[in-house]
Amino acid sequence: MTKLLFVPGSLRAGASSTALLHAMIARLPGGTTAETADIAALPHYNADHDGGPETARLLAQVKAADGVVFVTPEYNYSVPGVLKNAIDWASRPGYNSVFKGKPCLIVTTSAGALGGVRAQGHLRQILAAMLAEPFTWQEIVVPFAPKKLTDGTFTDAETLAFIDPAMTAFLARCG
Ligand SMILES: Cc1cc2nc3c(=O)[nH]c(=O)nc-3n(C[C@H](O)[C@H](O)[C@H](O)COP(=O)(O)O)c2cc1C
Repeated sequence: MTKLLFVPGSLRAGASSTALLHAMIARLPGGTTAETADIAALPHYNADHDGGPETARLLAQVKAADGVVFVTPEYNYSVPGVLKNAIDWASRPGYNSVFKGKPCLIVTTSAGALGGVRAQGHLRQILAAMLAEPFTWQEIVVPFAPKKLTDGTFTDAETLAFIDPAMTAFLARCG
């Protein structure tokens, strides 16, 4: 059984990125389990505190996962602050955190034409700072994501077909 942890980058109830995250989970093959991190529950990062039970849960989820999948929109040419906050919590102790050596798949989205490609690059670099292992494949950037929903569900067949082989390869890397 391959365990994946999905980490969303948007807290918005109607988020197109989270809709894509759910569509990706729905398409996972048998022999795979998926959990979704609750980054909304986390306090602001503060090195004077341990982050409480919500942070402990995130760390345990990352540790237990064979791979982590980020599905996030781009905010101001980078990753949303809420996602960076979650990553900062999980990044301690530096260079020896639960992310060390962890395979990570990055999926970025945007309402515009670029699909969050700048956030994609930033997230890759952030993962490098934790000695995580961002998966190298054709970059998964999803432009015009809000237009690819039907009644709140991500339904764009072309995007999902593009992601499928990346996920297959990623699962092989994780397994
Ligand atoms: C604070 C903020 C910053 C944004 N910055 C960018 C950006 O840098 N690039 C971009 O393509 N879209 C940007 N957008 C637009 C988002 O792509 C759009 O709101 C998208 O729907 C957010 O993702 P979600 O549907 O998953 O919540 C920004 C939106 C917000 C709220």
